[in-house]
Amino acid sequence: MRRFDGRVALVTGAAHGIGRATAQRLAREGAAVVVADIDVDAGEKVVAELAATGAEALCVACDVTDRESVHDAVSTTVDRFGGLDVLVNNVGVATDTPFEDVGEEEWRLQVDPTLNGAVRTIQAALPHLLRAKAGGAVVNVGSVNGLAAFGNEAYSAAKAGLISLTQNLALRYGRRGLRVNLVAPGTIRTRVWSQRLDKEPDVLERMAELYPLGRVGEPEDVAAAVAFLASDDAAWITGTVLRVDGGVLAGHTSFVREVFS
Ligand SMILES: NC(=O)c1ccc[n+]([C@@H]2O[C@H](COP(=O)([O-])OP(=O)(O)OC[C@H]3O[C@@H](n4cnc5c(N)ncnc54)[C@H](O)[C@@H]3O)[C@@H](O)[C@H]2O)c1
Repeated sequence: MRRFDGRVALVTGAAHGIGRATAQRLAREGAAVVVADIDVDAGEKVVAELAATGAEALCVACDVTDRESVHDAVSTTVDRFGGLDVLVNNVGVATDTPFEDVGEEEWRLQVDPTLNGAVRTIQAALPHLLRAKAGGAVVNVGSVNGLAAFGNEAYSAAKAGLISLTQNLALRYGRRGLRVNLVAPGTIRTRVWSQRLDKEPDVLERMAELYPLGRVGEPEDVAAAVAFLASDDAAWITGTVLRVDGGVLAGHTSFVREVFS
């Protein structure tokens, strides 16, 4: 038996990066996976890759900033696969504008998908997760930015909010068999760095030096942690924050110069 045989997982933002690696990991371990993303073309490609490995997968158009779109994605999932066992809230949006220049709209554009998007998705999925035979699991993709100051104030505040949401929902629904956890990644090699890579091609190499483990993370590093928290191996773990950060929050201080100088 693989860990997710017979289970259904919905991953938001699964067309690229960490979400894609998570969809691949859960599918490899037996889950029927729903790739829920605004980028449907890329989502369909992920589904085709998964299907080629024999996995059951479905792409649904989903914008986590739109309550109706999220409800439709969950309904489509349940119609197609008969239920929902695992929800991974992976969408996060950050901009690089200095704090003093971030207006109301730009603040909202970061906080809404990053924090409120997870709220919408959990609320839509909740009735199904509470019916999951082996107990439902939610894994929120947070960030080290939710735990310490790394800049990007709006994004970071949203990620900190996700930690509070994780803890509260873990307590609220634990007796009903639902576990809610969060992974907090450090720097992960995904396309979010590509804009900066154009200006600073060696940015990730420089970042790597700030990490006690000597490298930045790969999407698969986060996917492995998400799969653990979503699986029965974590059956007695809820409300926790699992840092997937190459050791950076263990006390490395060079980031202070990197981010705030
Ligand atoms: N890459 C990093 O260094 C890093 C570090 C810490 C945390 N994270 C977090 O990991 C998560 C994934 O990041 P990534 O680096 O893989 O990014 P990414 O840009 O590669 O992937 C994000 C995905 O979300 C989708 N998306 C964006 N807005 C959406 C919306 N409104 N509704 C539905 N889908 C939407 C995009 O189409 C894309 O497929 C985010 O929550 C991010 O904050 C990333």
